[in-house]
Amino acid sequence: MGVAVVIGAQWGDEAKGKVVDILSQQADLTARYNGGDNAGHTVVNPYGTFKLRLTPNGFANPKTTCIIGPGVVVNLNTLMDELRIIAQAGIALDERLWVSPRCHVVMPYHPRVEAIYEQAKGASSTGTTGRGMGPVYADKVSYNGIRLADLADEAVFTEKLHIQLEIKNALLRSFGQEPLELQTVRDEKLAQYTQVHHVVRESFGILQEALHRGASIVLEGAQGALLDNDWGTYPFCTASTTLAGGAAGGLGLAPRWIDRVIGVAKAYTTRVGRGPMPSELLDETGESIRRAGAEFGTVTGRPRRCGWFDAELVRFTSQLNGCTEIVLTKLDVLDNLPLLKVGVGYCPREGRRSHYWEGDARWLEGCQPDYIELEGWQQPTTGIREWDKLPRLAQAYVRKVESLIETPISMVSVGPGRDETIPVPLQ
Ligand code: GDP
Ligand code: IMO
Ligand code: MG
Repeated sequence: MGVAVVIGAQWGDEAKGKVVDILSQQADLTARYNGGDNAGHTVVNPYGTFKLRLTPNGFANPKTTCIIGPGVVVNLNTLMDELRIIAQAGIALDERLWVSPRCHVVMPYHPRVEAIYEQAKGASSTGTTGRGMGPVYADKVSYNGIRLADLADEAVFTEKLHIQLEIKNALLRSFGQEPLELQTVRDEKLAQYTQVHHVVRESFGILQEALHRGASIVLEGAQGALLDNDWGTYPFCTASTTLAGGAAGGLGLAPRWIDRVIGVAKAYTTRVGRGPMPSELLDETGESIRRAGAEFGTVTGRPRRCGWFDAELVRFTSQLNGCTEIVLTKLDVLDNLPLLKVGVGYCPREGRRSHYWEGDARWLEGCQPDYIELEGWQQPTTGIREWDKLPRLAQAYVRKVESLIETPISMVSVGPGRDETIPVPLQ
């Protein structure tokens, strides 16, 4: 397999977790390189159903080393919960897990500062997951962060926390909120660090060793390319880089090592939170997709906004990430629809179509997709495992999407389980 990066090619929740779980069966090493516990990945494998946010989805393979790289921000509560859930499932992970000491720590003031910003913005708020991502990454890039390594030294940690609380408490007070107490926060974080310090260890050496011996490596992107801080629908995006290139900085792996970039896209479009979504369906069809796809956020339980597949977006994210292939997921969710639409481009102007990258989020808000219509197959696909057995109209849908996004589709997914996948022959 070489080195494969798995990224979300839409607005997140494309079923990256499932794809990484499948690939990890053959992987020597799996690593997360961005985001934090704003991610929510549901994985269904022989050990059970897991809803994890931080741990790389290679956790279920006893032979896979798992790394949480420096690009990830760590909420210690979540990390502790996940170590417990995985241990309770009878999976030995602690010996295989490396969490970089360079990771920044989500502190109790981060979600509270985020809430102040979100409330102040009112109708123009981002609609975040409330996990403190904006403020923790802001502290990181403005040299105000606290890293896991700082927690190893009580005096260093206390001094840094003291300074941050002086500033953060002033803000909390000025918005009429209770300040945080130094001793309470310090004791809680130090106690949590003690619980996990055995997995906090520098990962650069083992990653380099794995690369040089030609190991099979899966790099797991969180969120989706349209939530990227630079290329997403800013400010309706997330705080970290969600692109394949983020794996390089977020892990300490030179770009030249990357062999494959696997984009994961749903057979339709979803989005959680605010921001433009040109192919959104606000009618009964959108509702029926939400029901069939169980489209509710893993982290917040919010209903996900649903719409038709938007080929302009996925063609763009495929170019942006250099996708060598796309895995098309949740095809089964479309099984009952008599008519399907696919967005092929926006707002014809002066005889030419506009592209996603020509404007910003406000501009995209005004864009209407042009659609093509395809006949639905109206048959169940979940039990199917071979391309040739898929209904002809389902094959036609996949091939149409493939030609519009100008990237080969290597696999389609027709259910949450590991085996509910169909390899797609190259055309
Ligand atoms: P991620 O954040 O990209 O890992 O995706 P999520 O786990 O947040 O959301 C994907 C959801 O779809 C999960 O609940 C999966 O169990 C489920 N799922 C994955 N693949 C399929 C599929 O092909 N069909 C259906 N019906 N559900 C799927
Ligand atoms: P996975 O890895 C879907 C969205 C939020 C919000 C915006 C900013 O499961 O695909 P944040 O809390 O990151 O500051 O919120 O980004 N968002 C996601 N949407 N899947 C995710 O992760 C997401 N992580 C963040 O809903 O619109
Ligand atoms: Mg998710």
